[in-house]
Amino acid sequence: MSEAIRVGLLGCGTVGTGVLRILAENREEIVARLGTAIEVVKILVRDADKVRDPAVPRSLLTSDPREVLEADVHVIVEVMGGYEPARALLLDALSRGHHVVTANKALLARHGAELFVAADEAHRDVIFEASVGGGIPIIRTLREGLAADRIHALYGIINGTSNFMLTAMSDQGKSYADALADAQARGYAEADPTMDVGGIDAAQKLSILIAISFGLDIAFEDIRTEGIDRVTADDIRFAKRFGYTVKPLAVAKAHADGVEARVHPTLIPASTMLGSVHGVFNAVLVSSRALGPVLFYGQGAGMMPTAHSVVSDIIELGRNIQRGTSGRLPHLAFHRELVAERAQRDPRLTRCPFYLRFEVHDEPGVLAKISGILGDHGISIRQMLQETSQPGEAVPVVILTHVAQEGAVLDAIAAIDALDFVAEPTCYLRVEDLA
Ligand code: NAP
Ligand code: HSE
Repeated sequence: MSEAIRVGLLGCGTVGTGVLRILAENREEIVARLGTAIEVVKILVRDADKVRDPAVPRSLLTSDPREVLEADVHVIVEVMGGYEPARALLLDALSRGHHVVTANKALLARHGAELFVAADEAHRDVIFEASVGGGIPIIRTLREGLAADRIHALYGIINGTSNFMLTAMSDQGKSYADALADAQARGYAEADPTMDVGGIDAAQKLSILIAISFGLDIAFEDIRTEGIDRVTADDIRFAKRFGYTVKPLAVAKAHADGVEARVHPTLIPASTMLGSVHGVFNAVLVSSRALGPVLFYGQGAGMMPTAHSVVSDIIELGRNIQRGTSGRLPHLAFHRELVAERAQRDPRLTRCPFYLRFEVHDEPGVLAKISGILGDHGISIRQMLQETSQPGEAVPVVILTHVAQEGAVLDAIAAIDALDFVAEPTCYLRVEDLA
């Protein structure tokens, strides 16, 4: 058997613990596939004396990063999260000649370019399968499996916490707060769960998917991002009455005048494949010129699915190390100097149907005024419903539109919200009538 692949672990929380479990539980398969064992030689944590489940030998744990970086390792695995000190530690690791595996999409979305340059200069690799889609091998597939094709569009449910929460609210009638607490207890949520429910985690993942699918850098802060925190139990109920389910969707589409990128809760027909992706499951629907549509589906967060992706990356690096090779693939799939420049498209140009929920005081002429303003903005109504009002209370009026331009819809909403009979800002959600 050849030399073991020695690993230093930065972090031993949900994902790090899963990595240790997989290395122990699947040791035989891993050795048979890699031709040697993977050994974790040092682990960085905040509190080295904390009791860990399953137990980790105290001698492996340290709260001093130098003990990990200076150890005799081939690979540093970063599963600690956050920007700093993760960024500094990985740059240090690369300068020492270590390869890097990371699950940290926030770090990659903000500092990926710097890390990849450092890796190229050091002739080392940074790989990141677990950063998007948890256990789904979507990064490897986009970088290698679809390398021959031209990708037109991506539709992804890529935040497990948000999908888990919306499913629990929709199917079990759970409150938003209870659903979030449950997702946190299961280890799905980020350390700061506003990253999940606010859509930022999905925007960071979408920026990575766009880079490796279209060869385009879009800062995640520039992606139009709306979280599930704007969806109410009423919206879920009304959507059901129209035959839709509400899903946290990330969308990227290539147009002649740029790439459209957005993250938001979306009405999807309940009968479609993406509409059937529930709980912590994620899915990415990719549409490309030669292959057509292809769907990748699996658990998008949680200890073992995510750790499985991390360990598969260690195995890939182990194989490269055994062959004395690195840099086989460009980190972001494309040789950037050969990609034609493209910009991000103005989000106001997005075209799709919209779900609009107006909260209005029930008085004569309300519907005529709303539909008049929508008509003036070129927005055509497809379906409408209004529930019975209680005296003195506002009543929801819900409208599904035909395909409309986002800029026109936002302008129409601003005009309607200025009217006296409107009780609160109008809720709008986009609709994707996917097949
Ligand atoms: P976690 O449970 O909070 O674990 C973080 C670990 O890192 C802990 O062991 C913690 O030490 C250690 N740590 C954090 N900051 C540190 C510091 N400054 N110095 C030393 N040690 C530090 O996080 P996680 O859920 O495993 O997530 C880790 C990464 O994987 C994140 O980037 C996350 O976005 C990504 N990810 C997570 C999932 C998931 O389902 N959880 C899925 C995909 C990707 P202590 O144990 O002593 O506190
Ligand atoms: N918090 C993330 C999610 C973890 O819920 O999808 C997986 O990246």
